[in-house]
Amino acid sequence: MKGERKTPPAIKGTQDILPPYVKKWQKAETEAKGLFELYGYKEIRTPVFEPTELFQKGTGPTSDIVTKEMYTFVDKGGRSLTLRPEYTPSVVRAIIEHRLYLQPEPLRFYFIGPMFRYDKPQKGRYRQFHQVNIEVFNEKDSAIDAEIVEMADILLHKLGVSDIEVLVNSVGCKKCRPSYHQELKSKAQAQKELLCEDCQRKIETNPLRIFDCKKETCREVSQEFPKIIDFLCSECKEHFEKFCSYLDSYQIPFRVEPRLVRGLDYYTKTTFEIVSSRLGSQDAVLGGGRYDDMMTEFGGPDICGIGFAMGMERLLSVMPYRAEKDQFLYIVYLGEEAKKEGMELVRELRREGVPCLIEYKDKSLKNQMSRANKLEATWTLIIGEEEVKSGEYSLKNMESGVQEKVGREGIREAVKGR
Ligand code: HAM
Repeated sequence: MKGERKTPPAIKGTQDILPPYVKKWQKAETEAKGLFELYGYKEIRTPVFEPTELFQKGTGPTSDIVTKEMYTFVDKGGRSLTLRPEYTPSVVRAIIEHRLYLQPEPLRFYFIGPMFRYDKPQKGRYRQFHQVNIEVFNEKDSAIDAEIVEMADILLHKLGVSDIEVLVNSVGCKKCRPSYHQELKSKAQAQKELLCEDCQRKIETNPLRIFDCKKETCREVSQEFPKIIDFLCSECKEHFEKFCSYLDSYQIPFRVEPRLVRGLDYYTKTTFEIVSSRLGSQDAVLGGGRYDDMMTEFGGPDICGIGFAMGMERLLSVMPYRAEKDQFLYIVYLGEEAKKEGMELVRELRREGVPCLIEYKDKSLKNQMSRANKLEATWTLIIGEEEVKSGEYSLKNMESGVQEKVGREGIREAVKGR
């Protein structure tokens, strides 16, 4: 139409999550929270934006996230801020800022919220996406590494997600990684011409990251590169072996994947992912690992950390779900008196926890009844002049079609019986 104003659509890579589908989100979130609390985790909420340097330092200067994907802007006070691309550096910052490590409580946190990464949108990859995150601090023993994988595995099974595979690896530590880097660098240099431009750059910045490349030729070439697992120092080797043995004792099938280096700079020792064959190219439902140096690098105490993040959108795309029908009472009224009576009645019933709907459109009785039908109300309560006088209403069970005369108490009994 001429002169019509157009509303701009949602930004590419973001999505509206509409009412019927939100129930599925809520189900996954509720299950996750319940399970995490069982394992001693407490919810923590941190700001959506942080100083840019937090992620430059935490997520790491050579990661794709920092080099290409951050939503960074300068605010009116001239500060460089970034919409969080991940959550791990924020929780480390919060622990240091609030000195949470001085409290006796276990440092186990969970968090659910949106993240922002400027990546090329495709199935399973969005610019605003949501993560369910957990982080544990001050637990060096690889038993915790196994416990969090076990917890993730339980959660996925509880949510009915099948066709998953647990992939594990160790990326070593400050002690053993330099010699591996050296070896990897020289092997990669020798094959430089065969690698893509991006990987050629990675040879200098972070050769480990070459394993992340999805290009077929790079994958083939890197197949022959040395594996970090063969270069682990005795401490990392023992840690990894124990981790694997604990997974065995939990009877969790897993595969050691030497290419699993993960795209963030901070990992030390354990890395893992749970992938689903039903997801396509973006197949990681969740990923995580150990980051024993982040806290000290942020100027905090020498406290190690480990955690994982699960992508909600990816989880939900493989999670089976059958929505249950909402049960509610729809009030049909005729005339002002009946309307008032209806308003009072729903107020009472809602206070008692009965879901009720009354709409204020002054339509005919027939129209209101067909509206109740369309909305698939469980019951319809009809209030007309007669009903106001007598205090007896017509309650119709919309499934069975049975209609009966009831007083206020009768309504309660009928709806609560369901
Ligand atoms: P990440 O591997 O970058 O790790 O992300 C974790 C999960 O978030 C992925 O496995 C995927 O399910 C989901 N995800 C990531 N990017 C996108 C995207 N663009 N669109 C949709 N889903 C996405 C981390 O973020 C680490 N902070 C995990 C961690 C916690 N490590 C230790 N503690």
